[in-house]
Amino acid sequence: MHDKNRGIFSSKIGYVMAAAGSAVGLGNIWRFPYLAAKYGGGTFLLVYLILTVTFGFTMLVAETAIGRKTGKSPFAAFRQLDSRFTFIGLLGTLVPIIIFPYYCVIGGWVVKYLWAFLFEGSTAAAADGYFTGFVGNVGEPILWLMVFMAIVFLTVLLGVEKGVEKVSKIMMPILVVLTILISVYSISRPGAMEGVKYYLLPDFSKLTFMTVVAALGQMFFSLSIAMGILITFGSYMPKEVDMEKSIKQVELFDTGIAFLAGLMIVPSVFVFYNGDQSHLNAGPSLMFITLPKVFDSMGMGRLVGVVFFVLVLFAALTSAIALMETVVSSFMDRFSWTRKKASLIVGAGSLLLALPSSLGFGLWKDFMPLGMSILDFFDFMSNSVLMPITALVTCLFVSRVVGVSAIVQEVEISSAFKRKKMFVVFVKYVAPICLIAILISSVLNTFGIISI
Ligand code: TRP
Repeated sequence: MHDKNRGIFSSKIGYVMAAAGSAVGLGNIWRFPYLAAKYGGGTFLLVYLILTVTFGFTMLVAETAIGRKTGKSPFAAFRQLDSRFTFIGLLGTLVPIIIFPYYCVIGGWVVKYLWAFLFEGSTAAAADGYFTGFVGNVGEPILWLMVFMAIVFLTVLLGVEKGVEKVSKIMMPILVVLTILISVYSISRPGAMEGVKYYLLPDFSKLTFMTVVAALGQMFFSLSIAMGILITFGSYMPKEVDMEKSIKQVELFDTGIAFLAGLMIVPSVFVFYNGDQSHLNAGPSLMFITLPKVFDSMGMGRLVGVVFFVLVLFAALTSAIALMETVVSSFMDRFSWTRKKASLIVGAGSLLLALPSSLGFGLWKDFMPLGMSILDFFDFMSNSVLMPITALVTCLFVSRVVGVSAIVQEVEISSAFKRKKMFVVFVKYVAPICLIAILISSVLNTFGIISI
């Protein structure tokens, strides 16, 4: 049974809103486009789409059903089902502990660009070298990181997430509309068609092992899979809500926004760099170097820039708040700390962890663990190592401990389970086998033992 003091989403739309709110964030607008640009455009897009409707769907169903079945938070849910598996809950909390700090670094960049558009104008922000000048600075990125973190921290400490959520419910649809408008503008520039082709048409000569690893990691990150958060949302889902349909809606929304963000950002590389496509490999900085150029080239670019970065800031804040909230509440649960104590410790610890990621683009840029920037390294560890591991044990847990039929039953409480066959085959065989293969080869590859 559900605990008395655990609220249940009052409306049918509640689960979809909450899950979509945590899904849509910098992952869609910042991370997806730069990965798509780097890993082969249309090829990446296709691999991503296939993974999302198969693998992603399977994980979303598994986690949401565990949550709704037990009506508990991740730790308690695993303990109730089989106490030997409480460690999965622990693995799941490790992920947001790693993601949250570097997420705030990028959040800080968003605030900086908002500031730049407000007070320096679009031409300044669009100038070549503006971004590198900014991140190369020691103090400035840290200052913006602290501004972003302070907003998140105060919101969590004061427990006013509901307010932020309300505002962002209004902001999200506006963000979608603006993203559509900007992409239309962006792809109608001369020279953009080349880029649109690159982004939409798969070219299988570009299909590499890393394309699959990157797409898989992005899927985990973007859908907020493998960190327990969906178990929590599932625990709030009333039994009569159609689970499969809700999950499809969340996937569609999340993928739609990522797709549009890619359309807005990737072809513009072809427009603004006269055939120099090396910027496709720009990585985390891509959005910050191409978008200002897009805005600067349009009428009222400054206004569009300001509005755009305000909206992205809200999307980033809701995700960052959910991430911090997850960490804070697991610390409260585990160590019986008060909210205040947990928030302070998590806030201070995260700031410390965020500093290397920020400095990795400037002062410490020669320090490249596994050949990556420090931010990329944390990002790789959480999305391409820890999340696949958590997903793997979750699948094994479902098929060996809870039983696939118990999950199927939970889904069928509210409606027919249309993609049941696929779910069963994936959770039992395809997902675990692929995850093991990917984990082993990516570790071997990273350490240079094999090269793929
Ligand atoms: N999905 C979020 C995004 O795309 C990032 C994220 C990952 C997240 N894990 C989360 C957000 C947990 C909230 C809670 O930006």
